[in-house]
Amino acid sequence: MGFDSSPAPGVALLPDHRLVTFEPLADGGLVVALTDTEQHVELHGAPAHRMARLLGGTSRPGDRAALRALLAPWARAHPWLMELLEAASGQGCLEGRANASAEALILGDGLGMLFIEVTDRCNERCIHCYAEAAPECANRLSLDEIGRVLIAARRLGRPAVQFTGGDPLIHPDIVAAVAMARDMGFDTIELYTNGLALNDAMLERLEPHRPRLAFSVYSHDDATHDAITRVPGSLQRTLRAMRRARAAGLAVRAGIIVMPENRGHEAGAIRMLRDMGLEARDIGVDVVRSAGRGRFMGDYAPETAELETADAGHRPANHRSDERASDDSRGEAAEPGRRGKLCVAANGDVHPCIFSREITLGNIREAPLDAIVRGFRVRAPAKPSTARWAACRGALSCADCQAIAYALGAGAGPERQTAGAEHVAA
Ligand SMILES: C[S@@+](CC[C@H](N)C(=O)[O-])C[C@H]1O[C@@H](n2cnc3c(N)ncnc32)[C@H](O)[C@@H]1O
Ligand code: SF4
Repeated sequence: MGFDSSPAPGVALLPDHRLVTFEPLADGGLVVALTDTEQHVELHGAPAHRMARLLGGTSRPGDRAALRALLAPWARAHPWLMELLEAASGQGCLEGRANASAEALILGDGLGMLFIEVTDRCNERCIHCYAEAAPECANRLSLDEIGRVLIAARRLGRPAVQFTGGDPLIHPDIVAAVAMARDMGFDTIELYTNGLALNDAMLERLEPHRPRLAFSVYSHDDATHDAITRVPGSLQRTLRAMRRARAAGLAVRAGIIVMPENRGHEAGAIRMLRDMGLEARDIGVDVVRSAGRGRFMGDYAPETAELETADAGHRPANHRSDERASDDSRGEAAEPGRRGKLCVAANGDVHPCIFSREITLGNIREAPLDAIVRGFRVRAPAKPSTARWAACRGALSCADCQAIAYALGAGAGPERQTAGAEHVAA
């Protein structure tokens, strides 16, 4: 992949499926990071050049041994560095390998989070919506299709399930879908909603199945929130729904997405939610991502956004740390390693993440979810590219999703597909 001639970011898969990313620095250095952890090392000079050659598949005799000695002091705190040296030997990094196992890349140690967009219809028309949901949208998964997705998902792991959309509460069979997921033994079942359609009758039907409800709140200020949802009165309706859900004894959390229209409102919104009784850990804050209607929102890199989140759990609002919670909630220790995500959209398309809409792995109307993921082949490794890396970083919330999208070639232009479970990305 030629770090020497054109330094570009790269991704490598460790034997236990964790992902490592490499980001070249302007001075020829290299940042090597274990995704979804704070762990990274910055290499300069000879170690950086040797590492770049090793990862690029252009290593010279002695590079690996020299790196092993050079990195030994770092490896005490970062044992994964040595695993990386072993994994990189002879193979180069992911983009250097045709037919890298997409299954290992996407699923890691098993499916941890399943997003099911049951409908793309919505009773709001938010200015930033990555799903481009609106009242006139008409795609919908049937209850039977949702059931088949859930059965196939069990063959891929024990994921937390999030019903989302569009607004899932306007799906006619949403209560039945939640009940079905509960009957199948899924531990964490969440409805992500604006709450506008949550009435007492629905709450009464939902309550026995104990879903958690996640609500979207954009500000403590009515005018600001309502300008984002483009529905007058929507903040008060969402807050009312939250109070009702809490009164019914259901677990409630909130997600605040920050965009130019509500910049600086996060602290006020958090205060309002804390006053309602939400714990800090139940309030997620994240920046708008460059996807769907959000692609016109400008550059809001999460690491530079400086969100006012002092009194909240600062984490991506859409992806809770519950990707591992299905184990935690049974009182068992969370498994080590990386757990994967999948999103089934309202038209049946399967994406590696809610934001990775540029990559379609297949469609559940053509093949079962597990066959789609296991049959997915990357036809030709995409060339490493700094611009493509920046596009994946800008559009996706989580470091592992960014790395997966990059390795699968997102941002490289439209993908091609074949029919059936064997789908092919350019
Ligand atoms: C797509 S909505 C679906 C569920 C429900 N309709 C709601 O709004 O809560 C799920 C969450 O994604 C967030 N979201 C939508 N577009 C986004 C974007 N471009 N970047 C980041 N988050 C986004 C919404 O603010 C909402 O919190
Ligand atoms: S963000 Fe949620 S409420 Fe807003 S338009 Fe999209 S799906 Fe609807």
